Amino acid sequence: MSARDDRPGEGPGTTDPRGIGPGVERQQGVGPAGAEPPQARADDAGRRPVTGTPVLHPVPLPIDPVLEGRAITRHYHVGGGLFRGAKVVKAVRGVDFAVARGKTLAIVGESGCGKSTLARIITLIDPPTSGTLLIEGKPVEIAGRRPSRDLRSRVQIVFQNPHGSLNPRQKVGNVLMEPLELNTDLPAAERRDRARAMLEKVGLLPEHFDRYPHMFSGGQRQRIAIARALMVNPAILVLDEPVSALDLSVQAQVLNLLADLQKEFGLTYVFISHDLSVVRHIADEVMVMLRGEVVERGTRDAVFADPQHSYTRTLFAATPVTALQAIRARVERKASRRAAAGERRPAL
Ligand SMILES: Nc1ncnc2c1ncn2[C@@H]1O[C@H](COP(=O)(O)OP(=O)(O)O)[C@@H](O)[C@H]1O
Ligand SMILES: [Mg+2]
Repeated sequence: MSARDDRPGEGPGTTDPRGIGPGVERQQGVGPAGAEPPQARADDAGRRPVTGTPVLHPVPLPIDPVLEGRAITRHYHVGGGLFRGAKVVKAVRGVDFAVARGKTLAIVGESGCGKSTLARIITLIDPPTSGTLLIEGKPVEIAGRRPSRDLRSRVQIVFQNPHGSLNPRQKVGNVLMEPLELNTDLPAAERRDRARAMLEKVGLLPEHFDRYPHMFSGGQRQRIAIARALMVNPAILVLDEPVSALDLSVQAQVLNLLADLQKEFGLTYVFISHDLSVVRHIADEVMVMLRGEVVERGTRDAVFADPQHSYTRTLFAATPVTALQAIRARVERKASRRAAAGERRPAL
C-alpha cells in the first residue's frame, strides 16, 4: 500500500468506480443507477435491482494493476423454448475492479450474488457478455478466439471442493504434472522434478507423489489443488471459497500457506469468501457484491472499520466472527515447536 498514494476527496458516494482521479481516461461512473434503465431489468428472473450508487472508499490506485475488470457483465439465458419463457439471469452487472501485483482482493457477498461467475470470467473459463478484462495490462479478446495457452497460464483457480476438482483416479504426481503437459513443452523429467518440488512448497512430502487424492485429508487435498494451480507459474490465483469446506484449525493452516506462497511467488489473489473473519485475515481490499453489482469497495481497514452500505452492515452483523487469529497463533506455536524438535511431518 505504501508505494501508492491515498487520493483525497474520493469519499463515499463518488461516482468514480476505482477512485481514479480526473485526467485518467477510463470508464467512469459505472454505477448501478447508470448501468441500464430500471425497466430493462424486469426480465431478471424476478430479482430486484440494487438501488443507489455503490460506496467506494478511497482506494489507492494500483499504478500497474496485474488484473483489471471494466464494466464486466455476464448474462445467462435460462429455460424456455426459442421464443417463449426464456429468462435472462444477470449474474454480473457492470463490475469494475483493479488489483495490484502481490495484493489480495476479497470478494464477499451472499450465495448467488455472482462471485463464482466473476471468478470464471477472470480465470478465462467463461467469457463475459460484455466488458473488458485486462491481465497484466493486456486486454483479453472476448469476441475472438480462445485465449492463448500462455495467457491462460497466467490465471489459475482453486475451487472450494477439492474432491470435485481432483481426479480420484489420478495419482498426485500426475495431477501436478498435467498442467505442464497441457501448457508447456517441458520434458517429462523436468515435469517430475517440478511436481516434487511443489509438493514440498505446499507442505507435503515428495513420497506423496505416487498416492491418490482419497488418501489425503481435506486440508491436504486443498494443498494439492493449490500446488496444481501453481505449477504453470501463474501471476494471479483466484480462490473461490478455498477454505470454506475445512475445519477451522485447518483453515488457519491453509490461509497461512497461501500467505507464504503469495510472498514467495509475488502472487496476486482474488479471494472469494462469505466468511468475513477469513476476509479480514487475508484481504488487502474488499469488494462487496449484491445481486451482481458492487455495493461497496475499499481497503480492508476502511470497509471493516466503517462499513457504509446498508447491505455491508447487514452482512457484517450476520457473520459470526470466528477466533481465527487465536487459532492461527496456536497453529504457529505448534509448527515452531515441531520445527525446533526437527520433526519432518507433512501438514494436516
Ligand atoms: N451456468 C449458469 N447458467 C445459468 N445461471 C447461472 C449459471 N451460473 C450461475 N448462474 C446464476 O447466476 C447467479 C450468480 O451465481 P454465482 O456466480 O454462482 O453466485 P455465487 O458464487 O456468488 O454464489 C445465480 O443466480 C446463479 O443461479
Ligand atoms: Mg460461488
